[in-house]
Amino acid sequence: EHGLHAPSYPWPHDGFFSSYDHRSIRRGYQVYTQVCATCHSMDLIHYRDLVGVCYTEEEAKEMALNIEVTDGPNDEGEMFERPGKLSDKLPAPYMNEEHARYANGGAYPPDLSLITKARMGPARHDGQNYVFSLLLGYREPPAGITVREGLHYNPYFPGGAIAMPKMLNDGGVEYDDGTPATEAQQAKDVVTFLSWAAEPEMDERKLMGTKWLAVLSLVFLTTVYYKRWKWSPLKSR
Ligand code: HEM
Repeated sequence: EHGLHAPSYPWPHDGFFSSYDHRSIRRGYQVYTQVCATCHSMDLIHYRDLVGVCYTEEEAKEMALNIEVTDGPNDEGEMFERPGKLSDKLPAPYMNEEHARYANGGAYPPDLSLITKARMGPARHDGQNYVFSLLLGYREPPAGITVREGLHYNPYFPGGAIAMPKMLNDGGVEYDDGTPATEAQQAKDVVTFLSWAAEPEMDERKLMGTKWLAVLSLVFLTTVYYKRWKWSPLKSR
């Protein structure tokens, strides 16, 4: 059964010449770490990936230092704990899928690295609009609809009953830039962060596209000029 179709929102980075809102990526990272990371991993993102995107190298190093990473085996063949480094992944909340399901009543919180791009069936295309609507879509079930214990009514989720509870609440997150952390602000920022994570090369790709357009336009104009110049003795007669 399909969920309610998400409306199309005007994401500022959707335009042909527009880049991501990097302040929003940074706030979205804060939403991810303060809220979503309790249950969802982001296995494709390393601390180094944040550098120059939403944090400085010093900031990213500092954040990595605050996590504990299991490394090894060492010379004695033992595993050991060490502080994180820029080359480490963002820490995963669970050891594996079984552990994740056990902690979530049998449901599996998927890795979020590619979630805005993933096509998880027909109703979950259009990733960023879907995730945004889903996060803000919790409400009382309409009269006559009951939701099983442990599930939550959300019309955007296919089937209408999702194992993930409502996660975003006004003021539920601390932003380091002082932006008021309303529910909708958090949803927008975390989706911007997730879109960047799924497609980190987008800014670069659009910039290259723009450069190519500029260069090709110059080449074209030069060609036209050259042609006219070459032919002018014949044409003017
Ligand atoms: C599923 C996003 C926080 C538990 C999902 C899905 C997304 C998502 C996109 C996939 C929905 C689908 O299959 O169509 C987020 C975001 C979060 C967040 C952006 C932070 C703002 C959490 C937290 C928990 C959690 C903190 C645990 C307490 C789950 C579970 C599922 C899920 C169990 C599977 C639901 C099901 O299959 O019924 N989440 N999530 N999520 N999430 Fe989250």
